[in-house]
Amino acid sequence: MKVSKAIFPVAGLGTRFLPATKAQPKEMLPIVDKPLIQYAVEEAYAAGVREMIFVTGRHKRPIEDHFDMTLELEVALEQAGKQELLEVVHGVKPDDMECIYVRQPQALGLGHAVLCAQRLVGNDPFAVLLADDLMVGSPPVLAQMAEQFKEWRASIIAVQEVPAEHTRRYGIVAGKPVDDRMVDVQRIVEKPAPEAAPSNLGVAGRYILTPGVFHEIANQPRGVGGEIQLTDGIAGLLRREKVFAYRYEGERYDCGSKEGFLQANVELALAHPQLGAGFRDYLKSLKL
Ligand code: G1P
Repeated sequence: MKVSKAIFPVAGLGTRFLPATKAQPKEMLPIVDKPLIQYAVEEAYAAGVREMIFVTGRHKRPIEDHFDMTLELEVALEQAGKQELLEVVHGVKPDDMECIYVRQPQALGLGHAVLCAQRLVGNDPFAVLLADDLMVGSPPVLAQMAEQFKEWRASIIAVQEVPAEHTRRYGIVAGKPVDDRMVDVQRIVEKPAPEAAPSNLGVAGRYILTPGVFHEIANQPRGVGGEIQLTDGIAGLLRREKVFAYRYEGERYDCGSKEGFLQANVELALAHPQLGAGFRDYLKSLKL
């Protein structure tokens, strides 16, 4: 029961970051020196995933280019003897990692994006990573979930406690606690109003799912916002299989919002081996 495939839904328009995202994908916005999508791909790789499936749309070429070979750059760095930078460039796509692209022709929702990758995933369990949610954990959050998957052999969704007034931003799960991190999910609802929310456990953008979910997604009516929701597919799956929610250990930055994006930049800059100390001094000098 190894998870070797991951889906990255990256077809969104990124309207919240206009004008920065007018001509470039939001997933290519950098946190310090690395595009958001690369953090998600590295997290998947660290969890043992080797087949990265990107569900893309128009204007997403830079993502494909990023994970492709850049021969001119590599030759130039080699000739200039810049070995460290050459390693940085090579490291973007290790030799044993495969990148596959499939289009989502219309933005019909997250469930629909996942469904676009069905044929590539086939009958295997798979991960879904939403690059907007930058997760910092040790071990990385998806690796924590892969460990749990080995043990439970059932779908696992990453969750965190969210403020009651924010339930409209998340899928919300409720169920029976199994231990201090795992919950046996009984209900999952997409973006409920606080008064309708069954708990305060919000879904973060990391999932390990069994392939049965495809059939469920395909058979759900349109959900919140008129979209085909992954959450509704998981709600369908619940009727047939066990699904667990996992309270991950780590930090989540909601880089789909400007505040979260800025927080991630500040905190990852502070943690950066070369930049951290100088940046900390700079922040202190601001005397806020
Ligand atoms: C999606 C999911 C939602 C989940 C969230 C996590 O919503 O539909 O269930 O809680 O990601 O970031 P989105 O943020 O794409 O609206």
